[in-house]
Amino acid sequence: MRRVFVTRRLPEAGVRGLLAAPDLVVDIRQRDDAIPRQELLQRIEGCSGVITILSDRVDREFLAAAGDHLRIVANYAVGFDNIDLAACSEAGVAVSNTPDVLTNATADLAMALMLAVSRRFREGQSLAESGSWSGWEPMQLLGRDVSGATLGIIGMGRIGTALAKRAQGFAMNVLYHNRRPNPEAESRMDVRFAELPSLLEQSDFVSLHCPLSEATHHLIGAPELKRMKESAVIINTARGAIIDEQALLEALLQKQIWGAGLDVFEREPEITQGLAHLPNVVMLPHLGSATTEARTAMARLCSEAVLAVLQHKKVAHLLNPEVIS
Ligand code: GLV
Ligand code: GLV
Repeated sequence: MRRVFVTRRLPEAGVRGLLAAPDLVVDIRQRDDAIPRQELLQRIEGCSGVITILSDRVDREFLAAAGDHLRIVANYAVGFDNIDLAACSEAGVAVSNTPDVLTNATADLAMALMLAVSRRFREGQSLAESGSWSGWEPMQLLGRDVSGATLGIIGMGRIGTALAKRAQGFAMNVLYHNRRPNPEAESRMDVRFAELPSLLEQSDFVSLHCPLSEATHHLIGAPELKRMKESAVIINTARGAIIDEQALLEALLQKQIWGAGLDVFEREPEITQGLAHLPNVVMLPHLGSATTEARTAMARLCSEAVLAVLQHKKVAHLLNPEVIS
């Protein structure tokens, strides 16, 4: 009997189809915490499919531990920087991800972080909770308008486009930078392409929506932060390592930029010391896709991908379709 291993508990409605498959043994690790590497390597042995999350490293060691039966790794995320795709393709292992279904949830979170930082939610909440608020004051916790501000989106894919739509509802001007211009986005929305330095210089908010790769690792470091306005806010809901986190801490301490809204960190779950104490930083523990709807749909996509590959059917979101033929 073929076996499938799921490295974490997932929303049940999303894995029902997988559990119902007559010819599969599905082993779901019924826990939410990180799986120790040795346990992971043991439990995937002999599996035909594995559903992984973004902190499970899928590399040559993983592929060797799983063995020759492995046909598919379904990654429960849109990002797949945890996966050595070339090694998977070489081993004939299909890899899928979960785009589209988390686009709105993630764009909403980026918008929420922009509002939270610009309107000083964190300091406001502390004051309201402190018991020492002495009442409305004309000069209390003044933030910055989002309306009329310029938003620079780095990475104009699905999530970047969804954020641009939201930003236009808030009457923001939108610039974007992408590896290539995105004429489709430009034809549907009032957005303009800019080279990275120019985008950084012009934007009041900079929001990251590119994948993490060698090319985007530390895309935002000390020189890029220096280019930004002193009044600017940086938002990251993509991957932590796109920003040099130490350089960001220093830029915030030196007031080179005004604030940051961070959902992702360079060495999760570790967070660079000092960031947590800054009043102008709003931090969340990687919640971009964390809605019941998005997470259930992600689980369904992973289940469907595993079933489709094992049943030799067409798969919706394969990252290396060439391995199936
Ligand atoms: C989450 O970070 C994802 O890539 O889906
Ligand atoms: C991926 O990064 C996306 O924008 O969907």
